[in-house]
Amino acid sequence: MRRLEEGQEIVDLLEPYERVDRSSGRGPCWVMANMVAGLDGSASIGGRVGALSSPTDAALLKLLRSLSDVVVVGAETVRREGYGPVRLPEDRRRARVAAGRPAVPRLAVVSRSLDLDWGSRAFVEAEEDAATMVVTGTTAAPARLAEARAVAEVLVAGDVGVDLRLALKDLAARGAAVVLCEGGPSVLGQLVADDLLDELCLTLSPMMGGDPLPVAVAPEPALLARFALRHSAVDDSTLFLRYERIGAP
Ligand SMILES: NC(=O)c1ccc[n+]([C@@H]2O[C@H](COP(=O)([O-])OP(=O)(O)OC[C@H]3O[C@@H](n4cnc5c(N)ncnc54)[C@H](OP(=O)(O)O)[C@@H]3O)[C@@H](O)[C@H]2O)c1
Repeated sequence: MRRLEEGQEIVDLLEPYERVDRSSGRGPCWVMANMVAGLDGSASIGGRVGALSSPTDAALLKLLRSLSDVVVVGAETVRREGYGPVRLPEDRRRARVAAGRPAVPRLAVVSRSLDLDWGSRAFVEAEEDAATMVVTGTTAAPARLAEARAVAEVLVAGDVGVDLRLALKDLAARGAAVVLCEGGPSVLGQLVADDLLDELCLTLSPMMGGDPLPVAVAPEPALLARFALRHSAVDDSTLFLRYERIGAP
């Protein structure tokens, strides 16, 4: 065991995350996840994530998006959090374009029911060349599929539900090299169980007493996934941890 000493101030929040080689993931794309948890592992308070977060965590969440080609999120999180499309600061947009990437990553919403508000920000406020995607299975109701297709690009990957490996294959075929999952716990749990998660950025918020919902809910039987700590930082009493998955796929 070693003591973690307080070190230099981090001026550029993204810098420790930018230097990572994300060229080769366990699955079709490199999959990173960004989540915040209380000290008891809780992923929400009163059904929302906001109270767990801090201004630094919120700033990092926005910046981490700039590392990705697609931001994947579960439908329940979109419904509860009122998700909008990804927005990036001008300097990050310019840096991406200079590197030959689209100015912003696209949002991809995973849903079986397609019970989504098609007039919501996530769909109607997406930039013209970054239309929001909806990822669903072949059993989706045709009427809802038609509604989805009117405002989003629909990927069908899997039958009753989405097969996340197939979905990532589709995204990779569309040029996505780095996919960022922003939850919720059910989508993250499936990524872990399917051995598709490469990296976890976890903010540990100094509070307890949130909802009985851990940051990842794996379907049975779950794979035991191991990680190595690659970066840690502290802001007040909030810990920022970056883990990478270890072990052969
Ligand atoms: N702490 C954090 O960092 C964090 C991050 C994100 C969210 N949250 C919190 O987490 C809660 C929501 O999480 P959650 O786990 O309940 O929901 P979620 O993962 O956001 O979304 C679950 C929904 O996604 C769809 N889905 C998931 N897997 C699917 C599959 N394989 N195929 C097809 N559709 C699939 C289904 O949508 P349909 O119902 O439309 O079929 C399912 O109901 C909220 O309270 C939110 O605030 C916390």
